[in-house]
Amino acid sequence: MVDVILGMQWGDEGKGKIVDYFAKNYDVIARFQGGPNAGHTLYVEGKKIVLHQIPSGIFHTGKTNLIGNGVVLDAVTLKKECANVAALGIDYKKNLFISERAHLILPTHRALDKASELSKGNEKIGSTLKGIGPAYMDKTGRNGLRVGNLLEKSFTTDYIKLRMKHQRLLDNFNFQEDISSWEEEFFEAVEFLREFKIVNGEYFINEKIQKGQKILAEGAQGSMLDVDFGTFPFVTSSNTISAGVCTGLGIAPQKINEVFGISKAYCTRVGSGPFPTELLDETGEKIRTIGNEFGSTTGRPRRCGWIDLVALQFACMINGVTQIIMTKADILDNLDELKVCNSYMVNGEEKKYVPFQMQKVNIEPLYKTFTGWKKDITQIKEFNALPGEMKSYISYLNEFLGVPVKYISNGPGRDQLVVA
Ligand code: GDP
Ligand code: IMO
Ligand code: MG
Repeated sequence: MVDVILGMQWGDEGKGKIVDYFAKNYDVIARFQGGPNAGHTLYVEGKKIVLHQIPSGIFHTGKTNLIGNGVVLDAVTLKKECANVAALGIDYKKNLFISERAHLILPTHRALDKASELSKGNEKIGSTLKGIGPAYMDKTGRNGLRVGNLLEKSFTTDYIKLRMKHQRLLDNFNFQEDISSWEEEFFEAVEFLREFKIVNGEYFINEKIQKGQKILAEGAQGSMLDVDFGTFPFVTSSNTISAGVCTGLGIAPQKINEVFGISKAYCTRVGSGPFPTELLDETGEKIRTIGNEFGSTTGRPRRCGWIDLVALQFACMINGVTQIIMTKADILDNLDELKVCNSYMVNGEEKKYVPFQMQKVNIEPLYKTFTGWKKDITQIKEFNALPGEMKSYISYLNEFLGVPVKYISNGPGRDQLVVA
């Protein structure tokens, strides 16, 4: 049986915290897509840690953690992450497994990411520059190197061949930076990666399912950053939605049970691209400051705005969300009023769907206004103790989306989660 936790907005919904919270109920925690563009924050015994590629179940002893075939893996970042995890007393070598089919991010992928972004000027995606796009391009273009290739004698020769191909592309971009130090780090990290438990991920996970073990698939990014259904081209390069679990782990669709969709009580986006409910005023600034809305991977300020139910309904539909987890509700504690976008005016017509090319049409969000609860909710443990104004906000969401909000996160801590 497989449950999924994924983001329904533009990432950073609090997936790391929620996966860490639920991990105790599962045997295996698996990442199925994305790479070090992800930054999943957890608090372990009061200490903050940001994971980029290691699944967020790593701090629970006795759980298996798998980096699935759908992930693009950066060995250099992994080595650093492992050092951070080890510093907290975790024996990661025991519980971390890596699929041999996961593609490797090479130093030239990072260079190509940077060169491509620079060439786009004002139209840049706002990529995290971790080499994600170029690594997935080499996967779908059938050129890439995979983790399993590390164990072959021809690895270095194959690497050099691909590197030469990349160099021609970099020359086209007129990219002049010296990346020899990146390559040095890469080959050191490759040695480190060879010591891992590299497995056939699909047999590995299906044998566990067969034995009745419980799997939690941990999404990265969010549905609006999905390469097919997000705000293309301002998206990431993988399928972030629940279908990605099947291709990113080798799991059949019938095995998927619950799909937990995470949404903030408001909305954020980091990087470029359309964001209809963005607040460019004091309220947006207030949410950013109180919510500490700065990227976990890049430190960039996140754009903030009201919750967008048109986009959330779309996310519920394409993911088959069965339960919603609302995070960062406490960030709205001080607001006099809150707004919820429940339709878009698109070129003068009211619409309740996500248009084909959001950035090319004029969208004016239409809002319903709610009274703020103006109460500190961070210590509340029971749903009944939540302010009435907040309950009205939640019941409106339940009704609109047709999927219940089952949990409300009221702080970054492991224990700050109220069951509805
Ligand atoms: P992820 O990428 O989805 O895992 O999210 P990030 O870790 O990038 O960003 C979420 C941020 O919000 C982190 O700093 C979390 O510690 C924090 N966080 C998560 N849930 C809550 C919550 O309910 N309240 C508050 N105040 N912070 C939260
Ligand atoms: P988590 O898992 C928020 C955004 C980038 C950029 C676009 C493409 O922490 O929620 P990429 O590096 O993938 O080529 O960037 O996607 N992006 C994220 N935004 N959270 C993330 O991950 C993100 N991963 C990528 O900012 O706009
Ligand atoms: Mg994040």
